[in-house]
Amino acid sequence: MKIFLDTADMNEIVKWSSIIDGVTTNPTILKKQHLDLKKFADTLFPMPVSLEVTTDDLSEMLQQAQYISDLSPNVVVKIPVENQYGQPTYTVIKQLERSGIRVNATAVMSFGQVMLAAKVGATYISIFAGRIGDEGGFPEAVISQSVEWLRRWEYRNQIIVGSIRSVGDVLRAATAGAHIITIPPDILAKMADHKYTRETVRQFIEDSK
Ligand code: E4P
Repeated sequence: MKIFLDTADMNEIVKWSSIIDGVTTNPTILKKQHLDLKKFADTLFPMPVSLEVTTDDLSEMLQQAQYISDLSPNVVVKIPVENQYGQPTYTVIKQLERSGIRVNATAVMSFGQVMLAAKVGATYISIFAGRIGDEGGFPEAVISQSVEWLRRWEYRNQIIVGSIRSVGDVLRAATAGAHIITIPPDILAKMADHKYTRETVRQFIEDSK
């Protein structure tokens, strides 16, 4: 299982660089940083870095995707599986993948959407665990059904579980079989820490004196 960092904070990326296999962002994350996206992506090379399109228009999505993808060879273009008006974007995803642009099909909330994104060849499919839970859904069920279905039919798409709100979310996603979990830095810090580890180390340091 791979771990991605869900951030655009370079300090955090450097801090966790020995652990992470990639980086994901979204417009909300990028809003908090003033970034030169090309420099950002180049610095992270060869790790995959997901950058999202910011339009509801399908033709504009294709243009933005081309622009974003041209920034650096490690860029993966995030395409939401539908726009805010409910228009599906699977044709966009298919066209981009066919032209050699890697797509992260994002804002996925259901097993049905996973199947469709898989059919059009999205390299990554991002299930938003926290947001599924917000609506009373069961993210673990969506993750495990999706991973099992992909395995059964020998699809090569990778499930990223995002929208992680707690260490418990990470553990549940891992247990459900996520291929990749994208974790915000503060949650990764909590996952790395245990007060009894600290207490044990303190005891050993004291005794060594
Ligand atoms: C994943 O790719 C998204 O960037 C992110 O995890 C969404 O998380 P949120 O639901 O906390 O906004």
